[in-house]
Amino acid sequence: MEVCVCCGSASRALAEEVCGLLGSELGDVELARFPDGEIDLRIRNTVRGRDVYIIQSTEPPVNEHLVELLVMIDAFRRASAGRITAIVPYYGYSRQDRKSAPREPITAKLVANLLTVAGANRVISLDLHAPAIQGFFDIWMDHLTAVPLLARALADRKRSDSVIVSPDTGRVKEAERYARMLSTPLVVMHKQRLGPVQVESRTVVGDVRGKYPIIIDDMISTGATIHECATALVNQGARQHILVAATHGLLVSDALALLSMPAIREVLVTNTVSLPPDKAIPKLTVLSVAPLLAEAITAIHADRSISYLLAE
Ligand code: R5P
Repeated sequence: MEVCVCCGSASRALAEEVCGLLGSELGDVELARFPDGEIDLRIRNTVRGRDVYIIQSTEPPVNEHLVELLVMIDAFRRASAGRITAIVPYYGYSRQDRKSAPREPITAKLVANLLTVAGANRVISLDLHAPAIQGFFDIWMDHLTAVPLLARALADRKRSDSVIVSPDTGRVKEAERYARMLSTPLVVMHKQRLGPVQVESRTVVGDVRGKYPIIIDDMISTGATIHECATALVNQGARQHILVAATHGLLVSDALALLSMPAIREVLVTNTVSLPPDKAIPKLTVLSVAPLLAEAITAIHADRSISYLLAE
């Protein structure tokens, strides 16, 4: 089966980088809109029997990008692709992964159902909000991680008295992985979400006085979590020299303003979510997951193990 890598409109730059590493051309898919806004899509070349990888983050505007991905999968299935892998570097709707109040949806499961029904044979994603989302799929699901990539970059920046900080109890396992890789102590914050853009972070478990905090997270959305966490750390006597590392930099709403607080010196994210030029502030460093995806595609295509690329 010949490989065919293509992309939706959310992840074109990332997909081009992946193709560059694989030495292949990006699949020719024409994406347009009908006058009423519906997606008008055409695959330009035959894909019959091919091993297709569609790279598309379901980043904002989430609904647009999700439907585009579903329409693409449908088109490839109807064009008799041999196997379809949806590479969703950032899996939108992942934060609603269980009912936390009566009459709420579980959107992470709904998206898994949609991808499956559309015709994906396999889904690949990175640093899911909750690893249990893997179990929402009855098709192959590979949960990759950018933690080693971010940890390598942090290794050059850490100091002897740096501490890894988990901004909430849900991120402790990931924080442990960073702490292990960087040989640093671990601090855990207690966070309470008061609303979609309001969080409160007060309790610190661990010693931060005089330390250089490295706050890690899976995503930075509005930046409220990081801002609250950084403020609480400074109030508890941590150095006003904070590094932040997160896989997915959504940076919506007032995120850039919140991250601009002087105590936050640098923010590392990856390109699972594309960064428009107006969001490229000097303290933001973007690391590429293209080598990781290219390696995963090469190994999966050759039926080789990818266990060393997976999240724990
Ligand atoms: C929450 O559990 C997540 O891991 C992130 O901490 C959160 O989604 C970040 O969102 P925001 O930047 O809007 O606080």
